[in-house]
This record gives sequence, structure tokens and C-alpha cells, in this order.
Amino acid sequence: MARNKRIDFLASLLKGYHTVLDVGSDHGYVLEEAFKNGYIQKGIASDVREMPLERSMKTLKNYPVRGILSDGFLAIDETFDAAVVAGMGAYLIAELMEHAPLHDAVYILQANDKHEHLRRRLNELGFLIKDEYIVHDKFFYIIMIVQRGNQHLTDEDLYLGPYLKHKAEAIPFYEKKLQLLKDIIHKSTDDREHELKQEIAYLELCLPKKGSKE
Ligand SMILES: C[S@@+](CC[C@H](N)C(=O)[O-])C[C@H]1O[C@@H](n2cnc3c(N)ncnc32)[C@H](O)[C@@H]1O
Repeated sequence: MARNKRIDFLASLLKGYHTVLDVGSDHGYVLEEAFKNGYIQKGIASDVREMPLERSMKTLKNYPVRGILSDGFLAIDETFDAAVVAGMGAYLIAELMEHAPLHDAVYILQANDKHEHLRRRLNELGFLIKDEYIVHDKFFYIIMIVQRGNQHLTDEDLYLGPYLKHKAEAIPFYEKKLQLLKDIIHKSTDDREHELKQEIAYLELCLPKKGSKE
């Protein structure tokens, strides 16, 4: 049975990869869903804490999965062609990506917040964003597909997402964000008000004009 839209979508992005590392695997559902659908051959479940790692290994007991107790990538001693880092804050994911191994791999990142910070840090660390997706399942979840390489991103790209800003399914997310910023701008300090005005301008520019047929 399908877990939820976010887990299913993350798993669907693993189609065709051989060995997949799940950093912070917790319950192990992403790898489980990928195996159930025959998307991947081998898994590495990792977590910084023992309890969640045990939980993953229990979920994944029928599949070829190795469990590794690891802070991010630090204790990962095996190569993988794709890694998932999902369900964490952008600051934590950005810190973990500082220690990503140098071999070629695709990273599927889903931060819960502050996507602009994650995009900026990835850019500084020498990663490029290949694509972005959004899934709505009560909350909006933004998923970035990333690999090593260089990419020029404008401030607008960092804020809206270089690929997401062109996707129709992101419009409800941007609309919600715009409303939120408009609601709080009057209560903010001068510095923050300046930033918020810029963010509102980016959002208004990328949203279709009311009454337009786009
Ligand atoms: C909210 S859960 C997300 C689980 C799963 N990835 C998902 O998207 O549903 C976050 C998991 O990340 C783990 N975690 C937190 N910091 C970590 C780190 N530095 N390295 C590895 N795992 C970490 C936590 O122990 C927890 O199991």
C-alpha cells in the first residue's frame, strides 16, 4: 500500500539507480517503497541514532540493505549512485552536504524549510541543481535533484528555485508564501521589511497576473 505522496514520490525518483544511500532513513520507508516497486538493487540505510537505524533495518529486513550508524556521510565507506537526504531542515542538509563524497552521484534532497539557504550553500559547495519538484500532501514539499558541478544562480533563482519557478504545480505554493509574507511584513523590523519586499517582488513577478489566461 502506498505510504504517502511524499515518500512515494521520493521513491519514484530512485528508479533505475543501483545502490541508494538513505541518510537519516529513520523508518526506512523510502528504500522500502523503492524495493517494492523494483526501482533499485541495493540499499544503504543510515542514521545518526541507533533507534531509528534499528527501525529502518526492521522495515527493510527482506531487502539487500546494509545499515550504517553515521553522522551524515562521515562513516559511509561504500559507493552509491544516488543518495536521499529528506525530511530535515535546510541548515542540517547543507551541513551534511559539506561532507558528501567526491565520487559521481545524484542527491535527492528534500528540506522542510529555508530552501533558499540550501540552494545558496549547494551552489557555494560546487553542486548544481538538475531539477526541482513539488509535492502537496497537506504541506508543500520541495525536492531538489543535485549533482556535483557549477551553475550560475541569480538571487531570484535562489529564492524561487531555478526550475521550480517554471512549474505550474508550484503556483499554489508561491501564492501561499506571498500571502504569508504580506501578512507579516507590517510587523517586521526595517532590515527584514526590506528583504520581505524583495521576496514579495520575486513572487509577484513569477505568479500569473490575476485575470490573465496563462
Ligand atoms: C524527520 S526524520 C526523516 C526521515 C526520512 N528521511 C523521511 O524523509 O521521512 C529525520 C531523521 O534524520 C536523522 N538525522 C538527524 N541528523 C542526522 C545526521 N547528522 N546524520 C544522519 N541522520 C540524521 C534523525 O535521527 C531522523 O531519523
